[in-house]
Amino acid sequence: MSFKPVNFAVIGCGALARQAHIPNIANSEKTVLHTCCDLADEALAECRDIYGALHLAKDWHAVVADPEVEAICLATTEKLRLPVIELAMQYKKPVYVEKPLARTLDEVYAIQKIVNSASVPFCVGHNRRSSPAMIDARRIFRCHMEHPQLCAWRWDREGDTRPKRRDDGVAALSCRINDDWYSWKSWVFDKEQAPHGPMLFEMTHFTDICNWFLASDPVEVVAMETGMLNHAIIVKYAGGEIATLMLCGNGTFGYPKELYEAFGNGAAVVCDHMCEVRTAGIADAPPRIAYPFLKDRHPGVGVQGGISGWLEKRAVACKEAVATKNPMLQFTAEPDKGHARAIDCFVDEIRKNSPTVCGVDDAVKATRVAFAAIKSAAEHRPVRLDEI
Ligand SMILES: NC(=O)c1ccc[n+]([C@@H]2O[C@H](COP(=O)([O-])OP(=O)(O)OC[C@H]3O[C@@H](n4cnc5c(N)ncnc54)[C@H](O)[C@@H]3O)[C@@H](O)[C@H]2O)c1
Repeated sequence: MSFKPVNFAVIGCGALARQAHIPNIANSEKTVLHTCCDLADEALAECRDIYGALHLAKDWHAVVADPEVEAICLATTEKLRLPVIELAMQYKKPVYVEKPLARTLDEVYAIQKIVNSASVPFCVGHNRRSSPAMIDARRIFRCHMEHPQLCAWRWDREGDTRPKRRDDGVAALSCRINDDWYSWKSWVFDKEQAPHGPMLFEMTHFTDICNWFLASDPVEVVAMETGMLNHAIIVKYAGGEIATLMLCGNGTFGYPKELYEAFGNGAAVVCDHMCEVRTAGIADAPPRIAYPFLKDRHPGVGVQGGISGWLEKRAVACKEAVATKNPMLQFTAEPDKGHARAIDCFVDEIRKNSPTVCGVDDAVKATRVAFAAIKSAAEHRPVRLDEI
């Protein structure tokens, strides 16, 4: 590393920040955990005692203004976004902000305007873009979509007499999200903090992945929801691509949460829970790549890794949770969802002008798709993006 580490202030030191951003910032040689800012004394004490925060604060205005603070990680709930971002942009301080970008479209557009006119590095926490498995899956898929490497064994029954179809080869992506709503915290149900529920605060992760994988502009959305827990969404893109998203809150942590299956040009690229990437139909692409886990308490179990390794580790961990009556023991061998890499790459963007990680315009695009889905489900009709 050839540059001075960046002094970060984390504003909002709740569950996600203490699980990911605060330890990641403290552990990276590219960053210094300069200040932790929260309203809760307990959270601040943990930031100091466990993660070594150099300064603690309760007033975010003073934190943003502090000349020693060089960048902000904003991880409050989405109730607090625009005022912090606005002040940080006035001080020309880069901001990494958690998703969703804001609670309302008006606020989303206001943030976009402020950030674009400030021209200061800005990153939205669509961290899956920085997951090693997702990066590989997208790279292999985009490469095949742009320069197809067909397998010699593809069955081309009609050959030269095969009819011409305008959607020949066009990509389609399926995202399946299995979640267990019994694990959700109470602010999720508070209309003031999360007025649109998981259709917004969870969905932007996945609409962003669809936009990123398909590399096309979303044009139309149709969605249904059963209340708050089950959602089904279809997104159509300018190039004819289609994405389907199924989010189910009545699932289980005993099974992998996320499955992304991308198809196109006679091929498949699958990213299974960010533990394993599988491919088929692409000459020279590896059929399976397994990825290292984080916080693996069971290195001797499921040593083959990948998704079958994850399932074996999780089964052992669930038995431990039952034996000890401690449900937290079910967690082991987490997939690398890219949180640490997202901040590291954002620092490269700040210091070295490296490519944008997930800038404001991409985040606004993902958020607009989520708002189109919310409108479609509410009005029982397809909604075009230009209505949003
Ligand atoms: N990217 C991901 O994987 C991921 C995962 C979970 C949550 N999130 C997002 O992260 C955000 C935080 O979620 P969480 O689960 O950590 O919530 P949380 O409620 O645990 O944490 C929010 C924290 O913000 C603090 N806070 C509130 N107002 C403040 C203020 N004025 N000044 C300073 N601190 C203030 C609260 O005291 C609390 O500690 C949400 O927007 C959520 O959608 C992202």
